[in-house]
Amino acid sequence: MAQQKTPPPKLVFKAKTGDVTYDHAAHAKREKNECKVCHPKPFAQDAKAPIGFKPPHKKWEDAKASCGTCHRAGGSAFETKGNCTNSKCHVRAAAKK
Ligand code: HEC
Ligand code: HEC
Repeated sequence: MAQQKTPPPKLVFKAKTGDVTYDHAAHAKREKNECKVCHPKPFAQDAKAPIGFKPPHKKWEDAKASCGTCHRAGGSAFETKGNCTNSKCHVRAAAKK
């Protein structure tokens, strides 16, 4: 069972290719605040826990695991392919305003 803790509005996942800002509030809202869609699986309610979505992302997308549960071809959200740095995911600090 997902524990009811105060959800973070946003989380930043560090990456060499540019950090990814994860809009937790938007994600939760889109799932009608059903925390159990993501907690405790595929994600721990702990920003320090590993996400398990290290590249190649395709591996996780094919397994429908981690972010690839939704973010994959035929999934409920855009796949990683073609969306690396188009401001959706990896954003380099220098490019930010
Ligand atoms: C679409 C997926 C998704 C949904 C739905 C979702 N979360 Fe999360 N949540 C995440 C992810 C991803 C993380 C980061 C996990 C990690 O870093 O390993 C996270 C982390 C958290 C954390 C830890 C924050 C910290 O600073 O350690 C809390 C608390 C949390 N969520 C609460 C909630 C609550 C309460 C709900 C329901 C209202 C919810 N989440 C719904 C994906 C989701
Ligand atoms: C429960 C399904 C689900 C999971 C799991 C999920 N997402 Fe999403 N995500 C969505 C949907 C739905 C959208 C909005 C639709 C679209 O843009 O395709 C979205 C949009 C996004 C966006 C665009 C900004 C925004 O929030 O609108 C980013 C960036 C993103 N997701 C990153 C992630 C990352 C990183 C993970 C894993 C830590 C993740 N998502 C896990 C469903 C999910």
